[in-house]
Amino acid sequence: MNADTLPFQDRSAVVTGAGEGIGFEIARRLALQGASVLLNDVREARAAEAAASIRHEGGTCIGTGGDVGDVDVVQGLVDEAASTFGRLDLAVANAGLSLWSDFFTFDPGDFNRLLAVNLGGSFFLAQAAARHMRDQASGGKILFLSSVTGHRAVDQGSAYGMTKRALEMLARSLSVELAPHGIGVNAVAPGATVTPRTLDENPNYVEDWSAVTPTQRPAYPADIAQAALFLLSPAANHITGQTLLIDGGWTSVSPSPPNS
Ligand SMILES: NC(=O)c1ccc[n+]([C@@H]2O[C@H](COP(=O)([O-])OP(=O)(O)OC[C@H]3O[C@@H](n4cnc5c(N)ncnc54)[C@H](O)[C@@H]3O)[C@@H](O)[C@H]2O)c1
Repeated sequence: MNADTLPFQDRSAVVTGAGEGIGFEIARRLALQGASVLLNDVREARAAEAAASIRHEGGTCIGTGGDVGDVDVVQGLVDEAASTFGRLDLAVANAGLSLWSDFFTFDPGDFNRLLAVNLGGSFFLAQAAARHMRDQASGGKILFLSSVTGHRAVDQGSAYGMTKRALEMLARSLSVELAPHGIGVNAVAPGATVTPRTLDENPNYVEDWSAVTPTQRPAYPADIAQAALFLLSPAANHITGQTLLIDGGWTSVSPSPPNS
């Protein structure tokens, strides 16, 4: 056991929307590399199952249900992580609604829900975590989940892409206010990533995105998690306010497959 194999030893983390997909893989890798992790999901049973599977692999992880669109819930996640593990060092605002809809008929209720989850859930997680990190006075790191759709327009992605681009600006803005407290704030922007949800939406997801991605494959959660863990690690201590695109080169060319 040393800093190379367990770089997150003695660190505590909260990861939202981590019952499956990208957030699960970030939570899992943080825990297996030494962090104590609070794993949240709006589906309480899924959060419990995901946390149990990480514990089964040897990690320290608790699962907590709750909707990050509710500010009180988000504050509660930070409080629970800090009281359970005795500190909080890392906050990953992963939960996001991937909502695609025609601009002309976009429902105001859907729009407000999208803002509450993607923006409110990230903004107020960062706020609660940063307050705690400031009072703890030992620095910390915050990570947002953006998307390539914050960089390239895609059909029916007007509101979703807007929220993702906004998160990148939030990381940039917070870098100024939080740097004096030793808190780094960054974002990762995944391209098409194979998760249970994306496979459910399109059974040919892998083939379709392989055809239009320079690396000839979509991303997998491990691709995103490895980059996330770098930005959360001490190796990234001088990186703040930045967004790292992880897209196999897709934004260099940006075609959409015919069926997506
Ligand atoms: N999968 C992709 O291709 C892709 C690409 C770019 C960006 N992203 C972003 O990465 C993040 C994770 O993506 P994913 O595809 O793994 O997610 P996902 O849609 O599969 O959801 C992951 C988990 O989040 C939970 N969740 C949903 N709403 C929640 C809420 N309000 N509060 C708490 N938990 C909630 C779900 O129950 C689910 O278990 C999101 O922010 C997404 O916008 C994903």
